[in-house]
Amino acid sequence: MTALTIPGLDQAPTTHARLLSWVREVAELTAPDEVVWVDGSPEEAERLNQKLVDAGTFVRLQNKPNSFWCASDPNDVARVEERTYICSVDEADAGPTNNWMNPVEMKSIMTELYRGCMRGRTMYVIPFCMGPLTAEKPMLGVEITDSEYVVVSMGVMTRMGSKALAVFGDDADFVPCLHSVGAPLEPGQADVPWPCNDTKYITHFPETREIQSFGSGYGGNALLGKKCYSLRIASTIAREEGWLAEHMLILKLTSPEQKVHYIAAAFPSACGKTNLAMLEPTIPGWKVETLGDDIAWMRFGADGRLYAVNPEAGFFGVAPGTNWKTNPNAMRTIERGNSVFTNVALTDDGDIWWEGMENEPAHATSWKKQDWTPADGEAGVLSSHANSRYCTPMSQCPVLAPEWDDPNGVPISAIFFGGRRAGTIPLVNEARDWQHGVFMGATLSSEKTAAAAGKVGEVRRDPMAMLPFIGYHAGDYFAHWISLGKNADSVKLPKIFYVNWFRRGDDKRFLWPGFGENGRILKWAIERIEGKAAAVETPIGHVPTAADLDLSGLDASLADIEAALAVDAAEWRAELPLIEEWFTQIGDKLPSSLRDELEALKQRLG
Ligand code: GDP
Ligand code: PGA
Ligand code: MN
Ligand code: MN
Repeated sequence: MTALTIPGLDQAPTTHARLLSWVREVAELTAPDEVVWVDGSPEEAERLNQKLVDAGTFVRLQNKPNSFWCASDPNDVARVEERTYICSVDEADAGPTNNWMNPVEMKSIMTELYRGCMRGRTMYVIPFCMGPLTAEKPMLGVEITDSEYVVVSMGVMTRMGSKALAVFGDDADFVPCLHSVGAPLEPGQADVPWPCNDTKYITHFPETREIQSFGSGYGGNALLGKKCYSLRIASTIAREEGWLAEHMLILKLTSPEQKVHYIAAAFPSACGKTNLAMLEPTIPGWKVETLGDDIAWMRFGADGRLYAVNPEAGFFGVAPGTNWKTNPNAMRTIERGNSVFTNVALTDDGDIWWEGMENEPAHATSWKKQDWTPADGEAGVLSSHANSRYCTPMSQCPVLAPEWDDPNGVPISAIFFGGRRAGTIPLVNEARDWQHGVFMGATLSSEKTAAAAGKVGEVRRDPMAMLPFIGYHAGDYFAHWISLGKNADSVKLPKIFYVNWFRRGDDKRFLWPGFGENGRILKWAIERIEGKAAAVETPIGHVPTAADLDLSGLDASLADIEAALAVDAAEWRAELPLIEEWFTQIGDKLPSSLRDELEALKQRLG
């Protein structure tokens, strides 16, 4: 057999032997027309953006510099959890919350899917680094993809190209991440704007630290540095090495006295991380700056405190609901351009629009590429998919904290867990100690959102907002959280809080105004840590009364605030069997301390 010659394959800007042989192996399997080593330059991005415009994938926006509108295939709009697998050697290591397949079996399925899958397309090799390039041990990966959309999106979301490859040297370890949209082109066959495949697999091999994804172009399925590497694979590395890889925003809170605290918060997808990360507090003198809006890697520092780093370099934010009132800093970030908008509406003057944004247009092109008018909106037809997204560089955020790129990270004072619950869960609740906080996180529940395919609105347990992202057995994950607390100096551990911005009144309206008003809850939490704020000890934790919160100037009825804060014993007693059922599902690996917490909660509820 003659060795395959594929244009570009031999123009590798590296001498890294393992990388070279993997790239060759993938090229020979997938049979692209050419291979491009991605350098991450602005010229390259412009070439790819233009290629996407020419292909009909992108429409260049007139009203935002270097920005693009993109509509996906209507069947490729969210993460596909039922097609996402953890392929550990032993099924017990994937646990009851993940789909599992034997790695040898999965690899043979994937190999057959990948065979010839890049015919007629370009194969891109993207070296990237999650977290600062200056880290003591940079977390490297290489994504191979046949999607230009993925290349330009990785350019926004990660530190990639030549600057990342420079860190590889000849033998640095990296996570190989293989992605294909799974849509080979026969000679002369016309391409579609959003190539993808009905067969989708998002697969992870935790023992060998590999990722293979097929059939989808959607962010969470295709930008493999994000959920696949920084959460699923990183969580398994973190467990081995004694740290945490979490689905958390990171923010910096400065008080009027210029006291600084850093807060990390885990909410399930589409439950308010990006909004809280960029919040503009309504209470005078308080300031929030952003370090991350989706993922936090947290390690103990030499001083015994927990330090957080954001592995990403961009925001992949939920578009609908984002406006100048709810999230002005996100609006300012995207105004600066250099952004990709997927599955929102395109206005006739070449800008973007979505439900909840100001200045509703009289006519637009919907995400389904159909005419859309406000009358359609009134008839319930959305202009934008509920999980439509903006992809924009963090560096453009006007409230970016200067230390966002510090490889040492920032010391975390408080961890928030939160979900989307119409009832039961009060606005804010402080854990008594670390173990109780881990119990809160482990039993976190939320209504399902459009960020993942499937039925929206159903309440499910979403431990630490990590249900779709824990790369191993959830029981082992809880044990890891418990053990980190046991081995730490309890005084230096972050305090844990459980919040719910989404409790509703009888008429279904939100009881708490949320968004910028959430700064009042941040203030209370920090004042609790500093011993300055009061709370009531309830069966479920320390909950403030309305009088304990700073509500000055708040436009909301006291009755609503009190209802948002209420701890209803009957509602909580109804919650207990659901927690029981969840713990039963976790099985033997559930730490006994969490079972103890449940028993104690039952006792307190009477
Ligand atoms: P993420 O996916 O966790 O980053 O969530 P986002 O911050 O993007 O928010 C998801 C959706 O929830 C958006 O439509 C927001 O407008 C909405 N949202 C965010 N924060 C709040 C809040 O405090 N109250 C209410 N009612 N909605 C919120
Ligand atoms: P989100 O990120 O948490 O901001 O929604 C995307 C996702 O989790 O799929
Ligand atoms: Mn997320
Ligand atoms: Mn987000």
